[in-house]
Amino acid sequence: MFVNPIPNPAGPIGIVAALRQELSGLLALMHDGQPVHIGNREFWVGELDGSQVVVVLSRVGKVAAAATAAVLAAHFGARAIVYTGVAGALAPQVAIGDVVVSTEFLQHDVDASPLFPRWEIPLTGITRFKADAKLAKALAASARTLLANPSFLVGDTVLHAFGLTAPRVHTGLIISGDRFVSTEAESTALRSALPDALAVEMEGAAVAQVCHEWSIPFAAVRIISDRADDAAGVDFPRFITEVESRYSVAIIRRWLSHALDDQGKSRPDGPLHLSSEAEHKSWI
Ligand code: ADE
Repeated sequence: MFVNPIPNPAGPIGIVAALRQELSGLLALMHDGQPVHIGNREFWVGELDGSQVVVVLSRVGKVAAAATAAVLAAHFGARAIVYTGVAGALAPQVAIGDVVVSTEFLQHDVDASPLFPRWEIPLTGITRFKADAKLAKALAASARTLLANPSFLVGDTVLHAFGLTAPRVHTGLIISGDRFVSTEAESTALRSALPDALAVEMEGAAVAQVCHEWSIPFAAVRIISDRADDAAGVDFPRFITEVESRYSVAIIRRWLSHALDDQGKSRPDGPLHLSSEAEHKSWI
């Protein structure tokens, strides 16, 4: 029997992060969240700002992220998945405290050459998995609006402590691999091999591969915590608690509330994307 993967339009939105501190803000805001235990993970099912969501900690790395995404697809029938968390900057224009929203993903540690081209996922013919364009656009719009006033999000003391001046939103390629990139040598090598990569993390491209297989709209919002260099581990936990978690909660809530506003609050199963008219009204 063939089961055609079709995202369930009435399914919940999956919201995933790798570290507990990256999710705790969202979990605290969930209405009537109930844990469902599957495959050694807790999937928190409930409502967030009027939308049905499943919020889950994937843990770190591509296998953990892919396993989590597969459960969101097969068990929960997720109609979309958003990954949030931190990432290391690769491109020179990306600074600590900036937000990167994916338009595409690549697994930088996949190399089955000479059997397949470097970075191609064997037997798929795919090197770069696309994010859902409308989902990414709506998340980036939400991030831009919020970053226009970063002190409102995290307060001046935190902004000064981390040297965040005018954080910006970037959209483009995010690369993933099972390594925390923490040397200048490695980030330089990644930059020269993949000059259009904006940021590096350890999960997004794996989830993108699963979402591709299940035809589930997917995008990632990553807050830049480090420059993927020799100083990458410094202040990491503090950055997540004081900056990342606040940014990502605000970005996701704003995106959810505008997706709902566009449809009327009584339609939690409505489209995930802003209509162009609503986009125009709200964001431009
Ligand atoms: N997540 C945040 N910073 C990272 C880095 N430097 N490498 C991989 N994943 C990251």
